[in-house]
Amino acid sequence: MAKTMVMDHPLVQHKVSILRDVNTGTKEFKELVKELAVLITYEATRDLALKDVQVQTPITMAECKMLDGKKMAIVPILRAGLGMVEGVQTLIPAAKIGHIGLYRDPETLNPVEYYCKMPPDIAERDVFVVDPMLATGGSASDAIKLIKDRGATKIKFLGLLAAPEGLERLRNDHPDVDIYVAALDSHLNDHGYIVPGLGDAGDRIFGTK
Ligand code: PRP
Ligand code: URA
Repeated sequence: MAKTMVMDHPLVQHKVSILRDVNTGTKEFKELVKELAVLITYEATRDLALKDVQVQTPITMAECKMLDGKKMAIVPILRAGLGMVEGVQTLIPAAKIGHIGLYRDPETLNPVEYYCKMPPDIAERDVFVVDPMLATGGSASDAIKLIKDRGATKIKFLGLLAAPEGLERLRNDHPDVDIYVAALDSHLNDHGYIVPGLGDAGDRIFGTK
């Protein structure tokens, strides 16, 4: 079974609280999503492989470590996942970007696919799937299946808020996928929204409501 990590870092908890606030406007919301994505990526990249290198410092030759040149990809689930891309890229700028377009049918809450474009060598890459909201888990689960269908085997999910229902669904459907989220909330309401949550992440990032 892969790991599930709910970040307990004070900076993360502080920023999530501002994100939840109904009075936080689009500009600040977007900045916070980016900053939280940086902090979550820091944790989600803890197990990256290193190689030994020699570095000439101004004083002497030093035995050092550097990343082992692993190929990575970031895959946001549209729309809201786009808000996290810049933050992840801040720490892994060489990652290629794939896009998966999914929206939740408001009646059934099932995800509907409308776009999928992956780097051609996605099968060889470590993949970070990003979406701020893990509600029923349907969107994340379907997105990860689409990526696995293209041959990728090393996949992590990075999100901001999760409902227990979404975590359980993702763990059951993809027990090999590590999950990193900033907060675990109480439950889903009758409309499939996370409670207490932050509302509609896409609308708040893009100012569409
Ligand atoms: C939101 C969110 C997730 C999904 C989570 O997207 O960004 O992708 O809902 O819900 P789930 O876990 O129940 O599938 P939404 O469908 O609202 O689309 P949008 O990002 O384009 O607004
Ligand atoms: N999608 C959102 O944007 N917010 C929720 O609370 C649930 C799904």
